[in-house]
Order: sequence, then C-alpha cells, then structure tokens
Amino acid sequence: MKLGKTIFDINTLVRKNVLTMKPYSSARDDFKGEADIFLDANENPYPSPYNRYPDPLQWKVKEKLAPIKKVRPEQIFLGNGSDEAIDLVIRAFCEPGTDSILITDPTYGMYAVCADVNAVNVQRVTLTTDFDIDLDKIWKIIDPTTKVIFLCSPNNPTGNLLNNDKIKEVMQKFRGLVVIDEAYIDFTSSKSFAEALDEYPNLIVLQTFSKAWGLAGLRLGMAFASRDIINILNKIKYPYNVNIQTQDLALKTLAFQRQKEQWVIEIIEQRKRMETELSMLPITKKVYHSDSNFLLVQVNEAVKTYQFLMNRGIIVRDRSNVTLCNDCLRITIGTPAENVRLLKALKEMKSEKT
Ligand SMILES: Cc1ncc(COP(=O)(O)O)c(C=O)c1O
Repeated sequence: MKLGKTIFDINTLVRKNVLTMKPYSSARDDFKGEADIFLDANENPYPSPYNRYPDPLQWKVKEKLAPIKKVRPEQIFLGNGSDEAIDLVIRAFCEPGTDSILITDPTYGMYAVCADVNAVNVQRVTLTTDFDIDLDKIWKIIDPTTKVIFLCSPNNPTGNLLNNDKIKEVMQKFRGLVVIDEAYIDFTSSKSFAEALDEYPNLIVLQTFSKAWGLAGLRLGMAFASRDIINILNKIKYPYNVNIQTQDLALKTLAFQRQKEQWVIEIIEQRKRMETELSMLPITKKVYHSDSNFLLVQVNEAVKTYQFLMNRGIIVRDRSNVTLCNDCLRITIGTPAENVRLLKALKEMKSEKT
C-alpha cells in the first residue's frame, strides 16, 4: 500500500488552529523590494553590525545550502538547532492531550521531551537487539492518534544507521509524518533521504551544523521537507529565529566545505582506532559498530567507570539506564591527544574482563 502523492494531504494532518491562524507578519515580511531608507521596524538607525533585524526566512543561506543538499531553497527550514524543528513539528501537527508521536527506544531524548512539554503522548517501540527498526511492533502500536514517527539514523546513542528498506517501508505505509533525524549523516557514506523528498510527501529530514560542521555553539539546524510542510513550520516559528551572525557565519562556512570534509576523515580514522583499542581493554565487554562520531561501549561497571573518568577530568556519557544499553557508556571521538588520554586512563582502571 503505497502512500501516493495524490492521496497525501498535509492539511488533514496539521492542527486546526495552526491551519486557520493568521501568522505574525514582520516588517521585513511585508516589504520585498529594494530601498535604502528603512523606517518600518523601529530599529536603531545608527550603524552597528546588528542594528537591523535579520532576514526572517534566511534566503541567502538557503540558496547556498540547496544545491549542496540537492533540494530546493523552499524545501528548507532553518532553526535554532535541529531541536527547534523537532519542537515545531510536534506543535504544528500534534494536538495536546490527544495525539501521539512514536519513537524507537533507545533514541535521542529531545523527541520525548518536546512531546512532554506539549502534552503529546509518546508511543515507544524498542529497537531490535541489533539496534534496528522493529516493523511488526511499529504496525501493532500505531493508532489514529499517531501523527509523527521519529527515526534517528545514524541513531543516538547506539551509533548505527537504521536499515534503509525498513525506513522506506515506514514512509510508504504510515499515513502521518515521518521525521528522519540525520544529525550524524556526514560521518557515513550513506545518501541522505533529503534527496528523496519528491518521492515521499510525508517525509521531514533533520540535519544540523552542530556535529561534522563544528558549529554546535552557533545553533543552526536544518529541516528538509515538501514546500507545504516547510510553510507550516515557518508559519509558527518565531519571526527572527536565526540571528544575523549565525546567518553570516553559516554562509562563510558553506563556502569552505573542505574543512568539514577533512574533520570527518580524521574523526572516522580516530573512531576506527578507538574501536580497536577500546575492544582490547580488560574493562570492555563490547564496542558496538558506529556510523557516527561516537562509540557505544559496554563495560563491566558503567557507573564506576564514568566516575573514575570524571575524577580524571574526562567526561563521557553514562547511558547505562537507557533501554538496551545496560552498562554502556557513549564516548565521543575526540582529538588524537584526547583519545590517547582516555585510553591511558581506562588502562589504569583495575578490572578483569568477564
Ligand atoms: C540525533 C540528534 N538530533 C539532534 C540533535 C540536536 O542537534 P542541534 O544541536 O542541531 O539542536 C542531537 C544532539 O546531540 C542529536 O544527537
């Protein structure tokens, strides 16, 4: 049962109040042409780098980004991190107190947090033991309240790519929206689903400048979807959600992709090295396969190891209380020197391999 373009109508999914509301119209939305005197937005007229409001729809960044991502500028939403897009998708499409999102456990925590904030129910389907999508369980749990399915690939905290055929099956059969969070896609050789937007009208792809691009502090996230879906997100976002400095820096960064590509090569090389070195440690039970910039590592005693490292000034992420991640630590790949220090510290932990 393929979800054809003809039968998919986004207006049947969007919340009624969002569909009918009149969005805030900023001064910069109203005026489109060329002018040299701007007395329309109550700004300070005296020159400072930031006396003017930014472009609310960030067109220059989108025009530069579109060919890189193989999408059209109007298929791009930019926000304050991809976290903003996660929140907006839930607010636009899920009725508080009534609707649900579906997430695959374990996964990135913000889907459930944003749902909780918005009084939206969370349906959880545990991944298979090899951390892949359990389609049977998904079809069983989905009901008419399920509006959005979040799939994270590569997944956080497990690190692996989800099976592409299973993702496609979810997009084809599910009558709501499917969000594929590709925050870590740059660390894989896998093609982004953003290139398949025209095939899947219910698809939203998330990416971010926070990982491979090295701009976590800047806060810039991307959502790619049909123009109709992007228009809905734009309708409810804060008018000037991406500031001038972020837009300027993003433009500069996009013109210099070689640096990002070089970082990715180095991080992947280090990941391979760390995978081998960590597997040889007495405290390690298992290093899971990773397609990301981090490794999920099962150790003898996760909490003890976490504290031991913390006492040596090394912070990793304790994931031992997370579904399927018993005794697991999530370790980000650092610089070669940082990785050496981590290994040295772990070698000093007195523990026997079980
Ligand atoms: C899977 C995933 N999605 C989204 C994010 C958030 O990205 P951003 O910094 O763009 O808000 C993270 C951050 O760790 C993540 O792991």
